[in-house]
Amino acid sequence: MTSPPAAVRRTSPSPAATRALGARLGAAAAAGDVIALVGPLGAGKTELARGIARGLGVGDVVASPTFVLVAEHAGRLPLFHVDCYRIAGAEDALAAGILDERAGEGVTVVEWADRLGAALPLGRLEIAIDGAGDEPRTLVLRATDARHARLLGALP
Ligand SMILES: Nc1ncnc2c1ncn2[C@@H]1O[C@H](COP(=O)(O)OP(=O)(O)OP(=O)(O)O)[C@@H](O)[C@H]1O
Ligand SMILES: [Mg+2]
Repeated sequence: MTSPPAAVRRTSPSPAATRALGARLGAAAAAGDVIALVGPLGAGKTELARGIARGLGVGDVVASPTFVLVAEHAGRLPLFHVDCYRIAGAEDALAAGILDERAGEGVTVVEWADRLGAALPLGRLEIAIDGAGDEPRTLVLRATDARHARLLGALP
């Protein structure tokens, strides 16, 4: 038995650096991967998602999917970009409908992942982003299983 590696920490000085970090993850991601983003308003979750999209070869503009809950983008693999901001206190039924069986075909990135509660898949890469305004951001990345620990190896 190998235990998953401890959390790794990175500092990002700029939005471009946050996107570049995301792009490394997107380039390394495999079908079925789930990347759970947590952090306050304006922390940079969508910036990171944009980078992941770029790493997946997504050509579309990636915005906060706040009003649609899930936005799908075509890339090397489909990207399912989920935003749970509006499901505070949501029933798990709704949450479960957001992450359906199609998640296995692509890469799922969830903003406000903590709001999914028990509906959040157990196997995931969790990224907690902290910081606001023009401050550098701190990112703490933790894989819950070996499959997602692979993504940590893609980081600069
Ligand atoms: N190092 C950094 N990394 C990421 N974003 C940064 C950084 N420095 C400044 N910013 C700015 O912080 C903002 C982050 O916005 P973003 O939409 O990505 O946050 P969010 O976490 O998705 O917020 P929300 O919860 O509202 O969806 C952007 O305006 C970005 O330019
Ligand atoms: Mg966002």
